Amino acid sequence: MYKKFVSTFAGLATGAALFVGSAAAQETVEVLHWWTAGGEAAALNVLKKQLEEEGVTWEDMPVAGGSGVQAMTVLRSRVTSGNAPTAVQMLGYDITEWADQGVVADLSDLASKENWDNVVPTALQKFSKNSEGQWIAAPVDVHSTNWMWANKKIFDEVGVEGDIKDWDQLIQVLDKIKEAGYTPIAYGGQPWQDATVFEAVVLATGGPDFYQKALNDFDEEALGSDTMKQAFDRMSKLHEYVDPNFSGRDWNLATAMVINGKAALQFMGDWAKGEFLRADMKPGEDFVCQRFPGTEGSVLFNSDQFVMFKVGEDKRDAQLKLASAVMSPEFQIAFNKVKGSVPARTDIAPDEFDACGQKGMKQLAEANDNNHLYGSLAHGYGAPSAVKNAVFDVVTAHFNGEYTSEEAVQALVDAVASAR
Ligand code: BGC
Repeated sequence: MYKKFVSTFAGLATGAALFVGSAAAQETVEVLHWWTAGGEAAALNVLKKQLEEEGVTWEDMPVAGGSGVQAMTVLRSRVTSGNAPTAVQMLGYDITEWADQGVVADLSDLASKENWDNVVPTALQKFSKNSEGQWIAAPVDVHSTNWMWANKKIFDEVGVEGDIKDWDQLIQVLDKIKEAGYTPIAYGGQPWQDATVFEAVVLATGGPDFYQKALNDFDEEALGSDTMKQAFDRMSKLHEYVDPNFSGRDWNLATAMVINGKAALQFMGDWAKGEFLRADMKPGEDFVCQRFPGTEGSVLFNSDQFVMFKVGEDKRDAQLKLASAVMSPEFQIAFNKVKGSVPARTDIAPDEFDACGQKGMKQLAEANDNNHLYGSLAHGYGAPSAVKNAVFDVVTAHFNGEYTSEEAVQALVDAVASAR
């Protein structure tokens, strides 16, 4: 593997040398992303450094806002004005929607030289290629959303031992934490965060097949079912355990509440791990990672991919260097260890990852083998943005008390029908 890595770069270096005369101008990549939280920025730094070592200047274009909501708005205006960045962090259906606009670059030659077809998980490849089967994006990581992160000291204090297995046990624990005087759930009230918790609750409530039917296939019967009503009831129950200032809170500030021992736990994707690591906390010793209670065995995935946009010839070489760097095994290990995610390659050994990372890699492989790997709706892998946003609106309105659970079920059925 290492040999391949070296020869890839040797090849590129030779290619770059040929350009020296005409392209003495510095090679630059402009990268639009939303990795602005501490753990995210630390992970991105791994990539910046690697490229700088190869003589590529990194022009940073951060657009803050969890899950990329604001970044996608900025991207639209950049592309509309004919000034697309070199590469853009993107999720699932957003990628295929941009590919259909004909504004993205073809990476197929590089992909075939580096054998991406054989190492990138199949579930991701569907989103990394355009409708003609050309590679247009390089996946950086595989994240997963149905996780729970907890402060170990608080868990010890209230006597939580081992994993919380199901909903009833979860409620017992939340009650104990409340009695002990802590905020039980660190909660960020933003639509994408509401939806992140909601999709885990739907999975826990209805099981894997139900999740697939409701939030990937948008089957009307599943959306309008009693099970869905129960999922909304459970969201209302969780509301009893959040603090009064949850509204609008950024996800990383919620994680900080768990880190600082103000709150006991957070339901969030594994990018939260990056924040614990940044605070020098150790998995198993200082913080706990487990699947959202009742969802063990299933994985709701998302993957950050760098979509390459069509750029001038002068920028193409640097763009390919970026894509190649992202896909290299060494980078995938270094980056994902810091980010909290797992590699977007199937040929990487888990040895260098911490206990949560190893758990994540094993569970991802098992979920894939057992057909229990599902796209995260909240993070772009369940549905195109119109449907995703329609679901967000209903979930947030319900969480904030604007709908009863019955009304939310009906609103969900209607909103999905009109968005599809
Ligand atoms: C991305 C993560 C990011 C998180 C919070 C997710 O959609 O996949 O990389 O850390 O949003 O912004």
